[in-house]
Amino acid sequence: MKVLILAATGKMGGGTVKALKGSPHELYGFTRDAASAKAEALKSSGVTIFEGDFADRESLDRALAVGIDSVFFTIFPDLAGGDSDLKQTKNIIAAVKAAGVKQLIYGSLIYPGTEEGFRSVHDSLEPTSWIKLYFNRKLELDQLVRDSGVQYWTIIRPPTFIQNHVLPESIAFIYPDLASKYQFKSTWDHNLPQWYADGSEAGKFAAAAVNDPERLHTKEIKFASEALTAQQIVDKLAKASGKPVTLYQWPEEELKEALATNPFHNTTHVISKMGFDSEIGNAEKYGVELTPISEWLETNKKGTWLEA
Ligand SMILES: NC(=O)c1ccc[n+]([C@@H]2O[C@H](COP(=O)([O-])OP(=O)(O)OC[C@H]3O[C@@H](n4cnc5c(N)ncnc54)[C@H](OP(=O)(O)O)[C@@H]3O)[C@@H](O)[C@H]2O)c1
Repeated sequence: MKVLILAATGKMGGGTVKALKGSPHELYGFTRDAASAKAEALKSSGVTIFEGDFADRESLDRALAVGIDSVFFTIFPDLAGGDSDLKQTKNIIAAVKAAGVKQLIYGSLIYPGTEEGFRSVHDSLEPTSWIKLYFNRKLELDQLVRDSGVQYWTIIRPPTFIQNHVLPESIAFIYPDLASKYQFKSTWDHNLPQWYADGSEAGKFAAAAVNDPERLHTKEIKFASEALTAQQIVDKLAKASGKPVTLYQWPEEELKEALATNPFHNTTHVISKMGFDSEIGNAEKYGVELTPISEWLETNKKGTWLEA
C-alpha cells in the first residue's frame, strides 16, 4: 500500500512513520517545509516528502496523485479561535475523496473524564468559553471523519502527551517554571489521576489500521500508558532529571489570578472537574505495546531540561 502521512514531522505523524518503517508499505510524508531538519531526516529514512499546506488544496491533490491508498492526518487546533482547523480538515477529506483513497486514519484526542463528567461540565460552560469552543471543534472534526464516506476510517484517541512536560517547545508554552525553577504548576485536581502516553505511540495504532483496514474500520481507539496523579508525575520527572522537582501548592489568590488570566491553567482546571475514567487503556486488544512513562523519560532526555 501507498501510505501518505500528513503532519509527518509531528509527534503522531512521526510516530506513524516510525511504526510503518521496515514494512512493505511505500511511505509518503507531507510538510510545509521540505527543507527542515525533520523533513530531511524523513527523506534519509526513505520517506518521499511532499511540500504543501493543509490550507492549499492543490498541494494535497499533488501528493495524493501518486495513487495513495491510505492517509493518516492530525490537525493542529486553531488556538486563536478561528476556523482554520475546520477548513483544513474539510480540504483534506475532500482531496482524499476526490483521489479515491480507500482509508482515512485520524489522530484526534481522548475526551477527558467520564462520559457523564464530560457531558455535564461541557454543558455547564459558557457558549463562548475557549474550552467549550475547543471541544466543540474537536467533536465536529471527529464527525467529519465518521461522515467522510471513505471506505475505511479509524480514529485514534491519545491522552495527555508526556512530551508536554519535557519538550522545549511545549514547556515554554505550558509549564515555563518547570525547566527554570523545577516547579510543576498544575491546576489539575492534585488528587485525581490523569491518563498519559507517549503521543507518538498513536502511530502504532495507525500502523495497525494500515495493516488491517477492515478490522479497524469505524474503531475509535482510546489508549493510554499510565494513569498518574500530579505528585506521581513530579516523582518521575525528579527521578529522570535528578532535579528537586516539586508540586507547586498554589496560594489561593495566585490560583484565582491564574485561572482568570491564563487559558491553559483555566482549561486544565475545568477538565479535571470531568472526573477520571478508569476503563481507558486497551492497547493489548490491537497488539500494541506501550512504553512506560519512566522508560520514555529516560530514553528521551537528550536536549531537554531533564538533562540540562
Ligand atoms: N499534547 C497533548 O497532550 C495532546 C493530547 C491528545 C491529543 N493531542 C492533539 O494532537 C494534535 C497535534 O498532533 P501532534 O502533537 O502530533 O503534532 P505536533 O507535534 O504539534 O506537530 C504539528 C504537525 O502538524 C503539521 N502542520 C501544522 N499545520 C500544518 C498545515 N497548515 N499544513 C501542513 N502541515 C501542518 C506540522 O508540520 P510542519 O510544521 O512540518 O509543516 C507538524 O507535523 C492536536 O490536534 C492536539 O489536540 C495533543
